[in-house]
Order: sequence, then C-alpha cells, then structure tokens
Amino acid sequence: MSSIPATFSAFVAQKDGDAVVREVRQISVDNLGEGDAVIRVTWSCINYKDGLATLANGKVARIDPIIPGVDMAGEIAESGDSGLAVGTEVIAHGYDLGVAHHGGYTEYARVPSQWLVPLPDGLTAKQAMAVGTAGFTAALSVHALERHGLRPGTGPVLVTGATGGVGSVAVGILADRGYEVTASTGKSDAEGFLKALGATEIIGRDETSGPGKPLERERWAGAVDCVGTSTLPYILRTLRYGGAVAASGNTSGIGLETTVLPFILRGVALLGIDSVAMPIEERRAVWQRIAADLRPRGLDEIGSREVRLAELPAALDAVLAGANTGRTLVRL
Ligand SMILES: NC(=O)c1ccc[n+]([C@@H]2O[C@H](COP(=O)([O-])OP(=O)(O)OC[C@H]3O[C@@H](n4cnc5c(N)ncnc54)[C@H](OP(=O)(O)O)[C@@H]3O)[C@@H](O)[C@H]2O)c1
Repeated sequence: MSSIPATFSAFVAQKDGDAVVREVRQISVDNLGEGDAVIRVTWSCINYKDGLATLANGKVARIDPIIPGVDMAGEIAESGDSGLAVGTEVIAHGYDLGVAHHGGYTEYARVPSQWLVPLPDGLTAKQAMAVGTAGFTAALSVHALERHGLRPGTGPVLVTGATGGVGSVAVGILADRGYEVTASTGKSDAEGFLKALGATEIIGRDETSGPGKPLERERWAGAVDCVGTSTLPYILRTLRYGGAVAASGNTSGIGLETTVLPFILRGVALLGIDSVAMPIEERRAVWQRIAADLRPRGLDEIGSREVRLAELPAALDAVLAGANTGRTLVRL
C-alpha cells in the first residue's frame, strides 16, 4: 500500500491578471502532472530562475498554475520504471522541472524516472541542495575551463557574482582545486564569507563592469561568469592570451556588446554552459564528481540559510533582487 498521504503541502504560483498569487496549498498526487516515479521531497533550494518562474513577465514558467523549484532531493516513494527501491535517495533537476513540469516546492513530486540521479555517496540530500542547479552549473564551468586547458598555477581566475549561487560554489570548487581565485562582488560586507570559501582577492563589481577599451591589461587566466551583459565584455577584454571564460548566466541582462579583438588577437575562448538539457548519464557522472574531486569547499556555509514553504515569497524576492549571499535551502 502506498505511503503517500491523500493531501500534502505544495507552494503554488498562479497568474491572476498582471499579478501572480504565490501561496501554500493542500494538493493531492493527482495534481502533480506526468511521470512514473513519485519522490518524497526532503530538500529543495532557491535559484534565480525560481524567482523568475513566479513573475508574470519572468518568461520562465510554461504552465499555469505551477509548483516552482528547479531542484529537488528526497527519497523514492513510488519507483515507477527507475529500477530503484522505495526509500532510495535521489536528486532531480533540469529538463522541464519547475518550468514546464511541476518542480520541487512540494512534499511529494511526480517525475519521469529518466530524470532521476541517485544521490552520490559522500553527499547528504541537504548538501546536494546546497549545490543545486546553481552549484552544478559552477561545477560544469570549472570542468569546461579545465577541458580548455586551465590548470592551477597558471594565473588568477575571476569569479563574478561571487556571493551568489553559481559564484559562491565556483569560488569553493576552484579554491579547493588549488586555484588563485579573485572574487568580484557588489556586496561591501562579503569579504569574510568569500575569504572563508578560499578567495584570495576580493574586487568590487564596479571594477568588472561598465565600458572600456577593446583590449585592456591581460589579467585573468580564466573566469566563471554568471552575470552577463555588464561583466562579460570586461572579462573578454582582460583575459590573458589563450584564456577562457565559462558563461552561464544573465543576472544583469542578456545583451553582449564586445569586439572581435579578444578572440582574434589574444585567442581567448567564450565557453557556453548549459545545465538544463544535458543528457542524464552525463548529469549523473558530474554529480559523482561533485561528491568527490569537484566538491566545493565550505558547502555547509554556502547552504546555511533555510526556509519553509510559507517563507518562499520573501526568499524568492530576495534572489530576484540579487540580495542573497550563498544558497537558500527549502526544507520540506
Ligand atoms: N546556464 C545554466 O544552466 C544556468 C544554471 C544556473 C543558473 N544560471 C544563471 O546564472 C545566473 C546566476 O544564478 P544564481 O542562482 O547564482 O543567482 P544569484 O544567487 O542571485 O547570484 C547572482 C549574483 O550576481 C550578482 N548580481 C546581482 N545583480 C547584479 C547586477 N545587476 N549586476 C551585476 N551583478 C549582479 C550578485 O552577486 P554579488 O553581489 O556578489 O556581485 C548575485 O548574488 C542567473 O542568470 C541564472 O539564470 C544559468
């Protein structure tokens, strides 16, 4: 007999004219949409994209109403075709979750079993959500830079939006791998947090944004950027000869104004990072590495803030305002 209760709590965002109603509702498993496996969700987390999914003009949610949450961790309640026993701990993120399929802000979730990642040894469900999609993207960024040739000892690596989800995990991974990490932040009080994660230098956001010459002093052996418009052009014109930037985000906008000179005179590379559509076998392999050689330093400090479903509206507004330091976890 199934142990799934007749009703349980979920955080729902639903359009109402130009506004969006965001509230905790009691729902049943019949409200969860398609999928062969049911997960008892224990932890989720907050990403910038989750904030956008609750905005009327956020251009993220493709169903209405939606249970947002692009990440979840928990245990199998109904195994479907997964081949995993009831009670097995799993992670799910990416694909349509929290966008075109109900996401993780619910006590129970139904998902296609081909989206499931068994929780790797060495990570708890809570730690996996401290990593979440943002941290997974940071790991992919480091992986891409190293595939391009970046190695510790070849020069400073810049991380922008450094106190945010992608940024803070990137600082922690790079520092643990022996890189000299420079963290760029707009927060004047972030030095202690960033140094504890392993940043060797902190610079202000003003220094890494705004207009400049087509080429400037060569500074960075590599960079992890989740900011976009205001910052990516700066990185391209200050990368060292042959350096690369892993670009994953658009926190400051989607535009990109640059010249071709960094590419044709310094041979720099712009590496695009996508965590959403990645095939499941590759996703499972990257999670194994996050539990081992790509494990970020300071994971418990990065994920030290917790909210419950009822506290999500304020927490989602904070991520949209760029006000967060580290990651916010959602305890179910
Ligand atoms: N490609 C992918 O697969 C993928 C996956 C995950 C996330 N993303 C994208 O990556 C970006 C970051 O996501 P996140 O979850 O890390 O968000 P986040 O936690 O809000 O972090 C973003 C950080 O950027 C900085 N920032 C905020 N507003 C800014 C502005 N106007 N100009 C410059 N910097 C600003 C802030 O850090 P400081 O105060 O320290 O500067 C902020 O903490 C988002 O655009 C998200 O959609 C992409």
